Amino acid sequence: WRQASLGNGNSTFSSTPQKFGDPDFEMVLQAIKYSRGRLEILDQLKLPHSEEYDHIYSSTDAWHAIKEMRTRGAPAIAIVAALALAVELVTLKLPSIAEEVKIFIIEKLDYLVTSRPTAVNLADAARKLKKTTEEATVREGATGESVREAYVVAAEKMLIDDVSDNENIGKHGAEWIVKNTEAGRKGPVSMVTHCNTGSLATAGYGTALGVIRSLHAYGALKHAFCTETRPYNQGSRLTAFELVHDHIPGTLITDSMAAALLRLKGSSGNIAGIVVGADRVAANGDTANKIGTYSLAILARHHGVKFLVAAPRTTIDLDTKSGEDIVIEERPGKEVTLVKGPRHDGVTLDLGVVETVSIAANGIGVWNPAFDVTPHELIDGIITEVGVVEKDSDGVFHLEEAFKVDGVK
Ligand code: MRU
Repeated sequence: WRQASLGNGNSTFSSTPQKFGDPDFEMVLQAIKYSRGRLEILDQLKLPHSEEYDHIYSSTDAWHAIKEMRTRGAPAIAIVAALALAVELVTLKLPSIAEEVKIFIIEKLDYLVTSRPTAVNLADAARKLKKTTEEATVREGATGESVREAYVVAAEKMLIDDVSDNENIGKHGAEWIVKNTEAGRKGPVSMVTHCNTGSLATAGYGTALGVIRSLHAYGALKHAFCTETRPYNQGSRLTAFELVHDHIPGTLITDSMAAALLRLKGSSGNIAGIVVGADRVAANGDTANKIGTYSLAILARHHGVKFLVAAPRTTIDLDTKSGEDIVIEERPGKEVTLVKGPRHDGVTLDLGVVETVSIAANGIGVWNPAFDVTPHELIDGIITEVGVVEKDSDGVFHLEEAFKVDGVK
């Protein structure tokens, strides 16, 4: 994996798209490339077959890239939005009056937050960036330039912090699994994961996939199973790609195969558990994550394996009491009824021709919620960058404790 780059303005960027199948093709697992005044995102709609970066010049560009899911994953969405506005601020001619720049920044942040509703990281980033901007505006001698600089520095710090947070999540999660599961105490474990929570969903390394990366790095991972993750296929297109790229032993299953897999290899085998990411963790631990997560949590409980959520504290929303208060994004039905990819005649893959095929009866109605909520009762631990939060003996998560460590909120 490679972390998102914070260049010095002289960084080199890949200009010609690389294609899977080219003799020297090696996908760089870098969802975000940034240097001051310049932002590029890896177009995740084209993965895993083609590596193409899109330039993001403004908050409007970022809003569309997020909405269309060219960039995705709760932390990556927040960072792309924050940096897009930083790029806009650096390249625009701004007023010299601090208050006017502040108003501009706040309006743009409010707009960016409307791109996708469920992941809280973007709203959390916007709240923190507004605070930074407001503080910079009331500072003595504040100018448009000093407010802009304060914003840009804070947005860039988010990119840097996300990578170190993820590495710590990986470490805490791997240690917890090795110590707290029967399979972990016996030897290398197998894990199941859902959606994509890796380098492509973050500034680098990943959350739930970071835990798997970390287990692998410690020599404590036997095998990773990733679900296909219908309908957008983040598992088969992105997580499978990251596993192959990092030479992590992995197997792809369709979402509907998870129960059979756990029956075969669950608590009696070496599957220690299921680890997933999160888009929003409510104050009581209820967790919104990619559709299908809830069914995996039920399966984990039934088969006696652990169910773990891995997320930075930017994903924990203490203002949302429970899962019932989380808004679930609904996406267009065509994401369920149509499948897009390079032409394959059953033998050969033709990367030159991208086709869209219909896989559903014409005229059928479609329900396409992008996320579901897993009740906290089904969650054994929430892995954060400062440690793993477990429930007390009454089954209650005290997530506020995670913020007392360094008073970050
Ligand atoms: O719709 P997506 O692809 O943005 O959904 C992504 C997920 O649900 C992830 O599990 C979550 O954002 C955590 S990514 C570290």
